[in-house]
Amino acid sequence: MPANGKVVLITGVSRGLGRAIAEEFIRLGHTVLGSGRSADDIARLQKQFGPPHDFAVVDVANDGQVVAWAKRILKSHGAPDLLLNNAGLINRNARLWEIGAGEFSQVIDVNLKGVANVIRHFVPAMVKRKKGVIVNFSSGWGRSTAAEVAPYCATKWAIEGLTQALAQELPPGMAAVPLNPGIINTGMLRRCFGSLASGYPTPQEWVKIAVPFLLNLNSGDNGKPLTVPVRGAND
Ligand SMILES: NC(=O)c1ccc[n+]([C@@H]2O[C@H](COP(=O)([O-])OP(=O)(O)OC[C@H]3O[C@@H](n4cnc5c(N)ncnc54)[C@H](OP(=O)(O)O)[C@@H]3O)[C@@H](O)[C@H]2O)c1
Repeated sequence: MPANGKVVLITGVSRGLGRAIAEEFIRLGHTVLGSGRSADDIARLQKQFGPPHDFAVVDVANDGQVVAWAKRILKSHGAPDLLLNNAGLINRNARLWEIGAGEFSQVIDVNLKGVANVIRHFVPAMVKRKKGVIVNFSSGWGRSTAAEVAPYCATKWAIEGLTQALAQELPPGMAAVPLNPGIINTGMLRRCFGSLASGYPTPQEWVKIAVPFLLNLNSGDNGKPLTVPVRGAND
């Protein structure tokens, strides 16, 4: 680990942005503590990157699973320096009145309640140290809207508010930031944009900008809605 090596906790590492972020932080010599629901992907990551890195099967929407994960990780690695609430879902493209109660709840449970669950069980240890940065993944659709993604927009607008309120609760020296990552060609984008997704950067291209940007965040950024400076981020 480099002298300034950080302990980085990331939700949603099985694919997409979370996976690319995890691999880039590891490549740079930092310690990654990741989670996701897909057991096969998590097992593959654990096999590829052994200790001090740690990958766990955790559904962030399940508070009990987050409690168990936090207990184990805080004991083995202590409080993270950087907490990245990346795990998320998007509803299938449909008008709000066409989306069933089950799908609507699932988007809220993961994108909003899942973030609160992770904060509830990891942030007290960070506050105790008066150190660390919390990044909650928002979206361009946390600051603007579009047809057929109303549940997703609702959660990302909520993330902006939740994160800015949290920022007012943290002790000096810490930061909480709602982050629009830009538009990146992941499975989520393909589900939503179809073939147009291929016009956007890959997660591997994106991390070359996003990871240095994340490493530079500090207490001066507390409460600021930020955007990773990639092509198309303000579309
Ligand atoms: N791609 C973009 O252009 C874009 C734009 C704006 C914002 N974002 C935001 O960036 C974040 C990452 O998006 P992405 O594009 O990388 O999406 P993705 O490719 O669909 O990956 C989502 C990740 O979240 C995990 N996840 C989903 N539900 C989970 C749960 N209940 N518990 C734990 N992990 C869960 C998934 O793993 P499992 O299925 O294994 O659990 C997966 O690893 C999201 O918050 C998204 O809203 C993305």
